[in-house]
Amino acid sequence: MMLLKHAANAGLVNALNLIKDIKEKYSGISYADLFQLASATAIEEAGGPKIPMKYGRVDASGPEDCPEEGRLPDAGPPSPATHLREVFYRMGLDDKDIVALSGAHTLGRSRPERSGWGKPETKYTKEGPGAPGGQSWTPEWLKFDNSYFKEIKEKRDEDLLVLPTDAAIFEDSSFKVYAEKYAADQDAFFKDYAVAHAKLSNLGAEFNPPEGIVI
Ligand code: HEM
Repeated sequence: MMLLKHAANAGLVNALNLIKDIKEKYSGISYADLFQLASATAIEEAGGPKIPMKYGRVDASGPEDCPEEGRLPDAGPPSPATHLREVFYRMGLDDKDIVALSGAHTLGRSRPERSGWGKPETKYTKEGPGAPGGQSWTPEWLKFDNSYFKEIKEKRDEDLLVLPTDAAIFEDSSFKVYAEKYAADQDAFFKDYAVAHAKLSNLGAEFNPPEGIVI
């Protein structure tokens, strides 16, 4: 479970605990596939697009198969747009992918005790659902829609989170073209998000069979 060792993934252990029972029941499915299946299913169930996923990922057998620490994006680097490009271009993703993928922050919350970012609680999170607290990017943080882009554009609600890397998508002239488009057109966001998510989910994975399995 090497991805849990990355400091930037603090909090993922909770997801692992939910998935462990399924893994015990269906031991033939790799953890890598279960994580990807859980993510794509959660997005679809939350109202998001159908993602053209493939499966058949082989789990890593040890740390030597895994990327080193420090390759995930930092939320508050000195130059956020440059940093995002350094991280995502290295993986073969482009400006459109970066902006579309940032829209995943339409879901979920940040917790100061995990990442150091966000408020301990807001009017949108103090009642839960689930464990209360943290700061979300959108009021309805269990709904996958384009509200992330609308909220970042407006920046009018102190209770909603805007990380420096989120702000960058409306500040950088190339990112901004996509951010404006997604704020105005949810279908365009869903279409580009689905493609970018599938691309990201296939990176660095070994598939057996090599062409993957479509379900
Ligand atoms: C663009 C660079 C990114 C940065 C700097 C970033 C940063 C962060 C930070 C600081 C948190 C809060 C973690 C916590 O306190 O628990 C977070 C949460 C989250 N991120 Fe990102 N992220 C980025 C990209 C992405 C991408 C590409 C996705 C998915 C496609 C994503 C999906 C999420 C989700 C769903 C949460 C909420 C988790 C929860 O509710 O527990 N993020 N991110």
